[in-house]
Amino acid sequence: MIQVGIIGTGNISRFHLKGYQALENVKVVACCDINGERAQKYAEDHGIEKVFTDYKEMLKLPELDAVSVCTWNNSHAEISIAGLKAGKHVLCEKPLAMNAQQAEEIQKAKEETGKLLMVGFVRRFGANANILKDFIDKDYLGQINYVKAVCRRRCGNPCGWFSDKSRSGGGPLIDLGVHVIDLARYLMGKPKAVTVSGAVFDNIGPELEVKAYNRYNPADPSKECSVEDFATAIIRFDNGAVMHVEASFNEHIKEDVLSVELQGTKAGAMLEPNLVIYSKMEDYLMDLTPKYTIPKDPFEDNFKAETAHFIDCIENGTMCRNPVEDGVELMKILDAVYRSAEQKREVEL
Ligand SMILES: NC(=O)c1ccc[n+]([C@@H]2O[C@H](COP(=O)([O-])OP(=O)(O)OC[C@H]3O[C@@H](n4cnc5c(N)ncnc54)[C@H](O)[C@@H]3O)[C@@H](O)[C@H]2O)c1
Repeated sequence: MIQVGIIGTGNISRFHLKGYQALENVKVVACCDINGERAQKYAEDHGIEKVFTDYKEMLKLPELDAVSVCTWNNSHAEISIAGLKAGKHVLCEKPLAMNAQQAEEIQKAKEETGKLLMVGFVRRFGANANILKDFIDKDYLGQINYVKAVCRRRCGNPCGWFSDKSRSGGGPLIDLGVHVIDLARYLMGKPKAVTVSGAVFDNIGPELEVKAYNRYNPADPSKECSVEDFATAIIRFDNGAVMHVEASFNEHIKEDVLSVELQGTKAGAMLEPNLVIYSKMEDYLMDLTPKYTIPKDPFEDNFKAETAHFIDCIENGTMCRNPVEDGVELMKILDAVYRSAEQKREVEL
């Protein structure tokens, strides 16, 4: 039995828990939250034996093999480093940290301890991403020149910790952009970013008064909003490819958009909402849509695949799909977008 602890018992932790509970060789034996009542209720609801309000106490449990870090972004680095140094394997939610410097400190701890540090880039485990990666690896797209990675919302800044820069590190770029930038870069074969030109806008605000529509349900609501509403960037990579990013909480647009589009020399592809490969056969323009089983709850399914992979890496030494260096590279890109926005010019990484 691999014994796991969960740190941060808010919204996303439930998906980690369901993932672990689906595995026969894993037991979640402890949970921790600075909100003691929340942690206690979580433990009671899910039959977890040990409850903590201080993660340092939880990490003293000798039987604990691994932890999921599901706290606000501002404690990812501190907790992940402490977890590694306590001899535990760590699955840390995205973004890996508040910035690249913190992310590099996690990488150093991972290298010193030899424990596993997996970054929660859960979208890499989507069925559509798996299929497209398979086609890309077999060179169906040719050289990928251009990628557009978009996650735009019109529903008002979510507030709570998401919109408090001291706990989140930033707004939609670090919260939503991180998913699509990572997924696009992963599909491109993980090239290294060399320059970034970015812009962010923060003059729309929380729009708390939106009527008749409620998307967010933060565990700790608040009216504070110190992050951007919208971010955009052009990222140039060392292999000549270019990525255009758009990420927002709050825009005046027709509807929310989630898409990753890739343009290769042999074919193009659109990952969301459904995977389509745009190609040519016998001189006919072809739209190819693979037939695959779409899970009832793709979000939950992706987390199940992510936690199963984490456990497989621990148990069988399988090579980790989401290694710490990918989290560090992403934080370097995000830092560069914010830096470029501030300096109003292209910056080098
Ligand atoms: N992979 C995804 O698709 C996805 C989706 C949503 C959130 N997330 C990430 O998951 C993390 C948590 O987000 P959430 O939506 O669950 O937030 P949440 O507010 O619902 O839960 C976070 C919990 O962490 C607790 N916490 C904060 N600091 C702590 C500390 N130092 N020690 C112990 N507990 C602490 C809070 O009290 C809260 O209960 C964030 O990093 C977020 O970016 C990932």
